[in-house]
Amino acid sequence: MLRSPWRIRHRRIFIPIPLLLVLWLLRNPFSTPPAPQKSPTPPHGVLPTPAPDVPLDFDPPSIAARASAQRSLDAVLSRQSRTLAEAAARYTLKTRRPPPPNYDQWFAFAQNQSCLIDSYDQIFRDFEPYYQAAATNRSWFREMVRRGQEQFLSEAQMLKPKRQATYGLAALEFKKGKLVIPTYRPTNYADDLVRQLNKIAPFMPNFKFLLNGRDEPRVVFNTQEQGALARATESGDPSPFHISPSPSGPFFRNQSGCDILSAEDGFVDDIGDIVSFFISSASTDFTTDFWPLLSKIPPVGSLGEV
Ligand SMILES: *[C@@H]1O[C@H](CO)[C@@H](O)[C@H](O)[C@H]1NC(C)=O
Ligand SMILES: *[C@@H]1O[C@H](CO)[C@@H](O)[C@H](O)[C@H]1NC(C)=O
Ligand SMILES: *[C@@H]1O[C@H](CO)[C@@H](O)[C@H](O)[C@H]1NC(C)=O
Repeated sequence: MLRSPWRIRHRRIFIPIPLLLVLWLLRNPFSTPPAPQKSPTPPHGVLPTPAPDVPLDFDPPSIAARASAQRSLDAVLSRQSRTLAEAAARYTLKTRRPPPPNYDQWFAFAQNQSCLIDSYDQIFRDFEPYYQAAATNRSWFREMVRRGQEQFLSEAQMLKPKRQATYGLAALEFKKGKLVIPTYRPTNYADDLVRQLNKIAPFMPNFKFLLNGRDEPRVVFNTQEQGALARATESGDPSPFHISPSPSGPFFRNQSGCDILSAEDGFVDDIGDIVSFFISSASTDFTTDFWPLLSKIPPVGSLGEV
């Protein structure tokens, strides 16, 4: 999560603006604030100002930084596929599978909204272990969803309605273009989540999936450990989603893959002990088995969870 290329790329784009601003302010800390001036018109191609009531600072470093950010953004957008055939070919080349059903409709929508077409490498990487597990054991995905649905329903039914949303585990289903949710509220974010999923329901094939309704991960499984693929489709955890260490620090220190490296290259330190989720998770209830669980949060380090 901390080192995802998305974050790094965007940090590279956006950090210079505040940084240059701070440097410029530090140049003369004792000067009186300049009288407000009429803002000159921004040069052509500079990012539009988000809110008209925020006074613009068009000092030279700011202009240069904004123009540089705009150039980076334009470069990313200009590299995207322009036709469906091109997008489908790139998708297949990257993922070694054909695009999913209704990709043509997604392409038309994404293009209309000026969204990225091809730049989803992080998502492809995050999903890869699930495709590999499913290819290794063809009944794995379906069987885990069946098991999860049974367990989550019976456990949720034993809770008071108020606690059911906090429990945060549920099986959901796309069926004939409609979203089917369980009889209990599956998450504290049900209003937004269900609204979002309903929007895409007409395009989805029929399938069931498991949802993590909380905003912290639940699956503690290192997909990059030796022999992990063979273990991924076995069950080892006798009480899935009931491992509740408190504090969580010693538990994570003991788990493979819970190290966060301080740098991309050269000598690196494990800085996992300054990551608040590891030291003291707000919610626990983990499993150490590899479950196909849809989550709102990206995988932490190399831990499994989509
Ligand atoms: C984009 O979508 C809007 C709203 O559905 C539609 O009105 C518009 O014609 C579309 N534009 C293009 C270029 O497809
Ligand atoms: C496939 O996965 C399911 C679910 O984890 C498991 O019960 C089954 O034993 C696995 N089959 C093989 C051949 O590993
Ligand atoms: C660490 O892992 C070992 C071996 O799996 C286990 O016996 C021990 O209880 C674990 N300690 C903690 C704090 O989880």
